[in-house]
Amino acid sequence: MYKKIACLLPLLCLVMWVAAQKKTIDQKVDSVLRLMTLAEKIGQMNQLSNDFVATGPITKDGDKQDKVRKGMIGSYLNVYGAERTRSLQEIAMQSRLKIPLLFGQDVIHGFRTIFPVPLAEAASWDIAAMEQSARIAAIEASAQGLHWTFAPMVDIGRDPRWGRVMEGAGEDPYLGALVAAARVKGFQGKGLGNTDAMMACVKHFAAYGAAVGGRDYNSVDMSLMHLNQFFLPPYKAASLAGAATFMNSFNDLNGIPATANKYLQRDLLKGQWGFKGFVVSDWGSIGEMIDHGYAKDNYEAAMLAVKAGSDMDMESRSYTNNLEKLVKDKKVDIAVVDDAVKRILRKKFEMGLFDDPYRFSNVEREKQQYSNPEHIKFAREISRKSIVLLKNEQNILPLPKLGKTIAFVGPFVKAISDHNGFWSFDWEDDSTRITTIWDAAGKKGSNKLLYAAGCGITDSSKAGFEEAIAAANQSDIIVFTAGEKRDMSGEAKSRSNIQFPGVQEDLIKALVATGKPVVVLIAAGRPLVFNYTADNAKGILYTWWLGTEAGNAIADVLFGDYNPSGKLPMSFPRTEGQIPIYYNYFNTGRPAKNETDRNYVSAYTDLLNTPKYPFGFGLSYTSFEYGEIVLNKKTISATENLVATITVKNTGAVAGEEVVQLYIRDLVGSVVRPVKELKGFQKIALRAGESKTVSFTVKPDDLKFYNNEVKFILEPGDFKIFIGGNSTAVKEAAFKMQ
Ligand code: GLC
Repeated sequence: MYKKIACLLPLLCLVMWVAAQKKTIDQKVDSVLRLMTLAEKIGQMNQLSNDFVATGPITKDGDKQDKVRKGMIGSYLNVYGAERTRSLQEIAMQSRLKIPLLFGQDVIHGFRTIFPVPLAEAASWDIAAMEQSARIAAIEASAQGLHWTFAPMVDIGRDPRWGRVMEGAGEDPYLGALVAAARVKGFQGKGLGNTDAMMACVKHFAAYGAAVGGRDYNSVDMSLMHLNQFFLPPYKAASLAGAATFMNSFNDLNGIPATANKYLQRDLLKGQWGFKGFVVSDWGSIGEMIDHGYAKDNYEAAMLAVKAGSDMDMESRSYTNNLEKLVKDKKVDIAVVDDAVKRILRKKFEMGLFDDPYRFSNVEREKQQYSNPEHIKFAREISRKSIVLLKNEQNILPLPKLGKTIAFVGPFVKAISDHNGFWSFDWEDDSTRITTIWDAAGKKGSNKLLYAAGCGITDSSKAGFEEAIAAANQSDIIVFTAGEKRDMSGEAKSRSNIQFPGVQEDLIKALVATGKPVVVLIAAGRPLVFNYTADNAKGILYTWWLGTEAGNAIADVLFGDYNPSGKLPMSFPRTEGQIPIYYNYFNTGRPAKNETDRNYVSAYTDLLNTPKYPFGFGLSYTSFEYGEIVLNKKTISATENLVATITVKNTGAVAGEEVVQLYIRDLVGSVVRPVKELKGFQKIALRAGESKTVSFTVKPDDLKFYNNEVKFILEPGDFKIFIGGNSTAVKEAAFKMQ
């Protein structure tokens, strides 16, 4: 007996110590709060951008440093650098209570080392790699004095007209939830308080990706059932992963702007999900409620936002200008302000900033992390994994490394920063640090390489066509690089036409007309429409925007040093008119029987019924054969797991990786259910000729769904299970749940 107690003693002491620590932070927060004037409390709820880098409409309003000195700013965004953050922190230390500043920045896909845009990384389906990518971004950014990244963006994206699909993980809630949690863990590392950890900021809460028409900042309207089933899972997963902060979104949701949406911020996030961090508004979104027609002035906007759970005001100055009066007018209870301020102060304590406000502003660490070869090496690896092989007619790819003349044509062949994509940083040494496709290809064997720009990305000049065609005529194979400029996808970049800009496809037609085989590389931040190219190029690699190591990664895949394994995280439409199109749709009462069925069914009379490329699609330089699904049971109870196994064989001549995907379908429900829902995947590596048996466990929770009373329920009935290499080419089996 006494032995048992003795064994438990260390554990007991640890629990007491941890409890003491926790209580200490809460006590410290309370002790600071007690000293604060109302003006100082409101100062903590105020975030301003510096005037040099704008990621929204800038407001010039006097000496910001003086506001810092008076404790009227709690956080800055768009300020980084060990020395610059230190100098601003020194000014904050001149304030009466010496409350340190938080420095936030959009570190969305890397910092010094630019990684593939998040949608591209999602195409790798490599969760661990995406976590590591965020980890490296945090190491590099925190070394430059940054405490907080406005990432991960976890908005479900079904509409490629919306330029911000590039920032997320695509259309699926299951994949999106795994990616969201991984990125939060990556940014926050071993926990806040470590100087290589950054606070994550889950955005944009919520359902910003469902803006009507794919038009940025537009309204969102959907049932709470649909919202909970398809759009909220990534936010919830990120919150449960311990995200330090959330950012709300510009859109109104079911008539209420997210910034003042109590259901989202108080009932769900801070209530049901138990979120203890703080919520920052998006750039000016509190003040924008006047334009929404939801607040008659800034005074009312500030009241609505703070009462609904927006704790910090980014850039609108609504809190600075109105909160004091709102409290004095008894329109806002001081307890609401205190809760917001405590949430903010708690994070500053957890980051260790009260102990040492300068701990992140370390010039030595900044130098160490300025060019880390391990990070560059990793960037090349994750970039290769993100590339998706869409077409490989007559195995034109990979290209041979010798004995051929290859014409490299197009505006991205020698591009440097155009592969960095939106939300990336330009560095003075990029031109020496970044390897272009042209330079990387030149290191692959001993082919004769020819180059012609041929055309620009967006301009209409065809002056370069002649030179390009001449080079093509001297070649055995043509590689054309097409796509979007780095700022054509991203915030405020919605497009009604998502085809190749400029005259790129005209040039592709001219190159195809030479009769030589054409391989097309597509650099973009979103799914594009490119039907002529899709039907006439021999090979197509979707290279997205891969960042610093784009050139090397593309050359590795192009010449076969890496066998592409990427799979699309979003459906690619045939035309803009087909949008929205996604794989987890409802069957309707008149489903098309096949892709050409138009006989009184849900279809367009002028278009095939299927996407150009389906969710989960991606080819390999080898081929994979799937056996039949074997289920451990045909009938399970509501408390039993189902085990499904399948054998996958590499039937080609080279090793490769395959993302084996598992989907389910609930055939009949108390509400209609999607024709497929992703519920599992495994990325496996197979040598030529090798087979592996892959096993999935389907738990009863995987079969639950939200009904129209927004209850998360499990219903008995008939189900199907699908397993395959994308969402359409699947083997299937049936089972019952009693
Ligand atoms: C922008 C974006 C948001 C970003 C913020 C700060 O408007 O919507 O994603 O984090 O402002 O730059």
